[in-house]
Amino acid sequence: MRPATPDLFADHEPVQPPTREQIGEQSWVLRGFVLPWLERLLPGLDAVLAAAPFRQMVTPGGFTMSAALSSCGTWGWTTDRSGYRYTRQDPLSGKLWPPMPEVFLQLAQAAAQEAGFAGFVPDSCLINRYAPGAKMSLHQDKNETSMAAPIVSVSLGLPAVFLFGGFERSDKCQRVSLFHGDVVIWGGVDRLRYHAILPIQHGQHLRLGEQRINFTFRTAR
Ligand code: SIN
Ligand code: FE2
Repeated sequence: MRPATPDLFADHEPVQPPTREQIGEQSWVLRGFVLPWLERLLPGLDAVLAAAPFRQMVTPGGFTMSAALSSCGTWGWTTDRSGYRYTRQDPLSGKLWPPMPEVFLQLAQAAAQEAGFAGFVPDSCLINRYAPGAKMSLHQDKNETSMAAPIVSVSLGLPAVFLFGGFERSDKCQRVSLFHGDVVIWGGVDRLRYHAILPIQHGQHLRLGEQRINFTFRTAR
């Protein structure tokens, strides 16, 4: 049974109930949702990065992206001079992308469920690493075969300002601050909304150091 009053003298931090903020008709921010998963998630991340290290990719327009990328799962999102696409192989190693750790899948499914998207089966997890100054320009996620599945986006490390726009590039954007452990989910009628990450500010995160790491779970095919 839970005590009726908080235990002020417990030797641990009081656990905050998770909060859920609605940012669109079918879009949510789950604050701190990842925190209970973190110690199982980070070894999975290390294993993926050992097989597929972060690298900077070039856009079709010839610009080097400021965020460094890796992927796991059946399909990895890549970009080069010839376009954006999903590939089965890591272009750097020529081997298949590392498998998605089971705990990644479970986290993504639990978060999607919490936002009203039961039965989410991601086959791709893009991993973005932002050093201070790195950003992600305004874009839509539209390289996936079907728009039926939501986007599940996990934030770790340094905070970020997420811009959540509309269906046209010029639509006004909401500014949403994202912190270590937050998850953003958008899908359904909101699936094609524009979004961006403003340049990451300098700082040191206690657990992850001077960086922000984002996982984007998607159903590519
Ligand atoms: C993205 O949309 O590709 C990245 C979003 C994020 O880093 O939070
Ligand atoms: Fe995106």
